Amino acid sequence: MQREVEKYRKPTRILHWIHAGAFVLLFLTGLVLFIPQLGILAQDSWTRVIHRIAAVIFVIAPLIYIPMNWKATKRGIKDAFSWGADDIGWLQAAPRYYFLGNEEGMPPQGHMNTGQKMWWFLVIVFGVVFVITGLIMWFAKTTAPAAVLQWMVFIHDVAFIVTGAMLFLHIYLGVIHPLMTESWGAMVRGKISAGYAKKHHSLWYEEVTKGKEVKS
Ligand code: HEM
Ligand code: HEM
Repeated sequence: MQREVEKYRKPTRILHWIHAGAFVLLFLTGLVLFIPQLGILAQDSWTRVIHRIAAVIFVIAPLIYIPMNWKATKRGIKDAFSWGADDIGWLQAAPRYYFLGNEEGMPPQGHMNTGQKMWWFLVIVFGVVFVITGLIMWFAKTTAPAAVLQWMVFIHDVAFIVTGAMLFLHIYLGVIHPLMTESWGAMVRGKISAGYAKKHHSLWYEEVTKGKEVKS
C-alpha cells in the first residue's frame, strides 16, 4: 500500500530550485548595489553583470515551465488568489502554533497553508514588479525621465526589502522550524508521508486520496 503522497512534481521542484538560485543571486548582488558601504564589491561592475544574468534566468525559467505545465500553473495561481474564512482562522491561530506548538484552532489546510499562500502570492506580485521596474532601469536608463527612473529604483527597493525579509522566514520555516519536519523533503524528493500530509494539509490529503486510507 502507498505510504507517501507526492506534494511537488519534478518539473515544479526543478523550477523552484533554479528560481531560488537566481533569486538568491539577485538578492546578494542587489544588496551590494543597495548598501553604499559595499560599493567596493561592485568594482568593475561585475555585480551588475551577475544581477542581469540572474534576472534573465529568473524570467526565462517560468516562461519555459508555464506552457509545459499549464494545468499545474493554473491551479497554483488559483491557490494564490483564493482566500476565505479558514485563512483568517489560520492567521489567528498561527502564532500559538508556531511559537508554542499548540494546534488548537488551526483550521484544516489545502495543498498550501495560509502562510505558504502568502509567500506564493508575494512571489507572483513582486516578481512582476521586479521585472517591470528592472527592465525599465536596464533598457531605459538613458531615455526615461529622471523622475521615472527614481521611482523605479524606489519601487524595486521596496520589493527587495519586503521579499528579502520574507525569504528569511521562508527558509526558516522550510528548513529549520521543528514542526516542519518534512518540508525540505517535499521540495527535494517531492514526497511527504501520509501522516504528515494528513496533519498539515488535511483538505488536500482528502482530495488526493479521495478518502482512501494511505498507511504512514
Ligand atoms: C527579475 C528581474 C530583475 C531585473 C531585470 C533587475 C534589474 C535591475 C537593474 C537594471 C538594476 C540597476 C542596476 C544598476 O545600477 O545598473 C537593479 C538594481 C537592483 N536590484 Fe534588481 N532586477 C531584478 C530583480 C531583482 C530582485 C529579485 C532583487 C532582490 C531580491 C533585486 C534587487 C535589486 C537591488 C537592491 C538593486 C539596487 C537598487 C538601488 O540602487 O537602490 N532585483 N536591478
Ligand atoms: C534558497 C533558499 C530556499 C529554500 C531553502 C527553500 C525551501 C523551500 C521548501 C523546503 C519548500 C517546501 C515547503 C513545503 O511545502 O512544506 C519551498 C516551497 C516553496 N518555495 Fe522555496 N526555498 C527557497 C527559496 C525560494 C525562493 C527564492 C522562492 C521564490 C522566488 C521560493 C518559492 C517557493 C514557493 C512559491 C513554494 C511553495 C509554497 C510554500 O511552501 O511556501 N523559494 N521552498
